[in-house]
Amino acid sequence: MDNLEKPHVFVTRTINKTAISLISESCLAEVWDKQYPPDYETLLEKTESISGLISLLTDKIDRKLILHSKGKLRVISQMAVGVDNIDLVAATESKLPIGHTPGVLTESVADFTFALLLSIARRVVEADREVHRGLWQPWGPEVLCGADIYGATLGIIGMGRIGQAVAKRARGFEIKVLYYDCTRHPESEKAWNASYVGFNELLETSDFISLHANLTKENHHLISKDQLSRMKSTAYLINTSRGALVNPDALEWALENHIIAGAAMDVTDPEPLPADSPLLRFKNLVITPHIASASTQTRANMAMMAARNLLAGLKGERLPFCANPEVYLKN
Ligand code: DGY
Repeated sequence: MDNLEKPHVFVTRTINKTAISLISESCLAEVWDKQYPPDYETLLEKTESISGLISLLTDKIDRKLILHSKGKLRVISQMAVGVDNIDLVAATESKLPIGHTPGVLTESVADFTFALLLSIARRVVEADREVHRGLWQPWGPEVLCGADIYGATLGIIGMGRIGQAVAKRARGFEIKVLYYDCTRHPESEKAWNASYVGFNELLETSDFISLHANLTKENHHLISKDQLSRMKSTAYLINTSRGALVNPDALEWALENHIIAGAAMDVTDPEPLPADSPLLRFKNLVITPHIASASTQTRANMAMMAARNLLAGLKGERLPFCANPEVYLKN
């Protein structure tokens, strides 16, 4: 196919090379290779000429942007499972399919959830910082003691694919698993010995609470002062889903006043967390920069999945993984 006939595609960051090669076989791919994502104005300008977009969770795709493409844009393929940065309603109204990447990152995110859980409970980051700063204290019975993971109670909020993968890992630690979700998951109850409980019961009885819910308008700041106050003062909050599930002011209040024992967050509100955020002063808060799915293999798999969704959309085929399948309903 000659370049002039190829549909123009914009990829908002550098992604896996094999995925770009696959896209380039049938598309003219423009890759934004800068360190920071394109700003909104740049994205708006690009949508005037492109037929396909590979987006990331850092790109705001709102109604204005979707309408701005005046129907020229045939598919948006997001390289992430979460699509809360995209106005799905506006996309569906414009008959624009949105691709996403469920499944391929489940195990990596579940692994990382446990990395955070272990780190905060056993003070791994805090201890490492002390050693690096030349402050290694001689072995002492009370030096850097933390909480046991073995035999603890873990409350999982959101028992989707990732919540289930976390429950599976918990078995090896002989952790008691509780979960809360808007629907029950009998298969997880059986497979991972997970008990369904009410939201407040989960907050009040868990030693670790791990968030695995999609971000929606309804659950924005789901964990605020009231919910933190219900948690045990010895409990830890873990978040590898979306930062805005947790109210950052409430978290600061809870850490300042020893309402909970600590927290470990791969996601924050906002992202990136400003360098002068008051949250950064707490030793009992581990923060990583939204990297739970960041294993080399998983990111490559996500890129290939996003490429395949994009190519299907450009051909007018149903996307293999579509976040707004209602776009295919007649009428
Ligand atoms: C997602 O896919 O939604 C994660 O947050 C990034 O991997």
